[in-house]
Amino acid sequence: MDNIKQRFFAPCPRGLETILQRELDALGIASAEVTQGGVSFTGHWNALYHVNLESRVANRVLLELGHARYRTEADVYRAAYALDWPAWFDPGRTIRVKVSARHCPLASLNFVTLRIKDALCDKFMAACRRRPSVDTQQPDVRIDAFLDAESVTFYLDTSGEPLFKRGYRFAQIEAPIRENLAAGMVLLSGWTPDQPFVDPMCGGGTIPLEAALIARRIAPGLRRVFAFERLRLHTPDRWNAIRAAAEARQLAASPQPIYASDRDEQAIQIAKRLFHAARMIQDIDVKVKQEDFLKLDPPAPRGVMVANPPYGVRLGHSEQSAILYAGIGNRLKQQWAGWQVHIFTGDPKLKESIGLLPSRRIPLYNGPLECRLYEFKIVEGSMRKHARSANLHG
Ligand SMILES: C[S@@+](CC[C@H](N)C(=O)[O-])C[C@H]1O[C@@H](n2cnc3c(N)ncnc32)[C@H](O)[C@@H]1O
Repeated sequence: MDNIKQRFFAPCPRGLETILQRELDALGIASAEVTQGGVSFTGHWNALYHVNLESRVANRVLLELGHARYRTEADVYRAAYALDWPAWFDPGRTIRVKVSARHCPLASLNFVTLRIKDALCDKFMAACRRRPSVDTQQPDVRIDAFLDAESVTFYLDTSGEPLFKRGYRFAQIEAPIRENLAAGMVLLSGWTPDQPFVDPMCGGGTIPLEAALIARRIAPGLRRVFAFERLRLHTPDRWNAIRAAAEARQLAASPQPIYASDRDEQAIQIAKRLFHAARMIQDIDVKVKQEDFLKLDPPAPRGVMVANPPYGVRLGHSEQSAILYAGIGNRLKQQWAGWQVHIFTGDPKLKESIGLLPSRRIPLYNGPLECRLYEFKIVEGSMRKHARSANLHG
């Protein structure tokens, strides 16, 4: 099976599919096909090592085991039984089956889940006289099944814990964003590490840390374990060689400074602990200070800002956000000429409150919440005129 090409599906936050496709391209995976909420691709076993280790935006990497049409629960049982489960993992492993569905006519997804688990265990009993036991909390092997109106697809989750868990975070502020969403914003902003980077409302530090990892070419998965390590086809030597190659290309320091600040002392403490845990603080890549953005001056004449200010739905009242956004807009106009600014928000009123015209608005989902990443090019003089012409041209 090792030398056979497999099919994979990598889900990601909605809005980041093309970024994920670009990452796969960069890894030499040419077959990537974008669907809503993820990218499917084919590749050899090594492909799953590379994507799990290197993707900054994928949620996980699922290995497709089989696909069948169904009408009843019994059809789903037969399709699951037909798969060669013992070839993939040992019966001593614990498992969890998770079923999701769209337009599925069957009455109970819980019952479908049970039937898939039964089929898998029956197959193990027939082949090895032993069967895996179920652990819904911390399973060794996670099995996903997806049902649409007529067909069921079975997947093995090769990641385990979702990939946004990089293995650094141990404390968090009230509304952190996930690491893969943060990395996605940085990648969407078009920032390159030869430019200064600022997150002036850094909260627990997720965005600047992802920027620093990008700048230093640090693979996001180097500090964690993966579910594929428990699968039969796992080859530790090959995996270790891939990890070693990723470590060898790291830079000792970010080419340009990355600045993180927030007005909240407690958030800054948490951000500092995160940067320490990620071993990024000594490298002076991330300069952390406590500062109100409404009084903050740019640290360089030009650069890129990515910020995630509070907004109504998750934090505080939206009237408060309107006042904050107006303040942010004024500060940007007065002090930040030369900067390319990206603001991520779920507040649909941002456009009115901030008083600047965006040159881009990118729909991006924070879980189920529809948000936008707004880009503003701050220039000296009439901001509105500039943004209007940017809109007309692009
Ligand atoms: C949604 S949180 C940012 C979360 C962050 N992206 C993370 O993942 O941890 C918004 C942050 O903006 C900060 N903030 C709000 N108003 C601010 C201001 N005027 N100046 C600086 N920071 C501000 C808050 O203290 C809070 O930490």
